[in-house]
Amino acid sequence: MSDPQPQRPGGPVMARPMVVAIDGPAGAGKSTVTRRLAARLGMLFLDTGAMYRAATVGLLRSGADRDDPAAVAAYVCARRIGFGADGQVQLDGERLGDELIRAPATVPEIWRVADNPACRAHLVAQQQAIVAGRDAVIEGRDATTVIAPDAQLKVYLDASPEERARRRLAEWPAGSPPPALAEVAAQIRARDEKDMARAVGALRLADDAVHLLSDGRSADGVVALLVAHAVQRNPFLLERRVADQLTVGRSRAKGYVRVAQGDVTGDGGMWQLGLTNPTPERMPGGVADLTRNRGGRQAGVLVQGRAVLVLAGRGDAPGEVAALPILPQTWYVIEPGAWHAVIQDHGTICAWAESSGISEERHPLDQAQQAQLRAFLEVYLPG
Ligand code: DC
Repeated sequence: MSDPQPQRPGGPVMARPMVVAIDGPAGAGKSTVTRRLAARLGMLFLDTGAMYRAATVGLLRSGADRDDPAAVAAYVCARRIGFGADGQVQLDGERLGDELIRAPATVPEIWRVADNPACRAHLVAQQQAIVAGRDAVIEGRDATTVIAPDAQLKVYLDASPEERARRRLAEWPAGSPPPALAEVAAQIRARDEKDMARAVGALRLADDAVHLLSDGRSADGVVALLVAHAVQRNPFLLERRVADQLTVGRSRAKGYVRVAQGDVTGDGGMWQLGLTNPTPERMPGGVADLTRNRGGRQAGVLVQGRAVLVLAGRGDAPGEVAALPILPQTWYVIEPGAWHAVIQDHGTICAWAESSGISEERHPLDQAQQAQLRAFLEVYLPG
């Protein structure tokens, strides 16, 4: 967690850490989405709920008078709560597993910490210290309003009570009869009202937050939308995320035009410059395999239109698909050994440059990877 942030080009303004703050009611899918988003963007993930849970576990163990807000505050405000290298929450350096922080005995007591202004102030200060100077995705109830009110991207991730009730019933344990949908939805409404009425740290839709309703969307679909919002606010995220594994334009396929050639590399190799405006049958969305670049380097820029870059890691086989919108006038570079595909809308023109000595290998995507890719394409290149 204390790794130094890699340096970013663009001077102090662009070097400012990127913070994505995500709030929303319980059951809207925040936890899955925020975790995946942080992994996709290569950012620190801060689960603030886990900190409230950890403080509660400690409080219950401590024997402090939990009915006395001053005693609760005295206990919690003397605690150091953070996360270990494995991402699990720690209370004064002790790792607390999910079986503790999510235990049925813990959950109904969390309000004693969450509704206590002194406890909240203490936890917020620790949350701010954890993300200070870092790119981070912060998940909570007050991330957009209190913890990181100046976050570059604020999201209120919502779902209708009926949708949340459906999701909860879908996970209902076998063996116990599920309640009626309307009953669960009513409970969810009541809990929302309580969360929004809290005197401190109330759940609130910030004026400048993106209000995203996840009804009918897959988790990957929501992540794709959020990546698009994040990259719009900070194009250097793209550069960081893809590190040195980017390309624009599939140069050896139909639709490519070489416009110049030259001896411009430092290592004596040749460069060629070209444009792509791919044929309709290649675009968009029909990619079932990825290309691996062997040898040489490529760089590219989107001149006109819309394109998506699909990354699949740097190992021997394509890993998890991570699609990103390519922004106009932003150059990307791809180094040898990376997996990629560029999917362009009709009429999109990409300019690219590449060194000599590149060969390409094609590898098919499996069913799960193709499904991930479709979720991204529905967002980035709909229709
Ligand atoms: O997100 P979660 O379910 O892990 O949160 C656990 C509890 O902590 C929940 O009752 C709301 C509360 N909480 C809070 O008050 N403020 C936060 N920033 C995060 C969680």
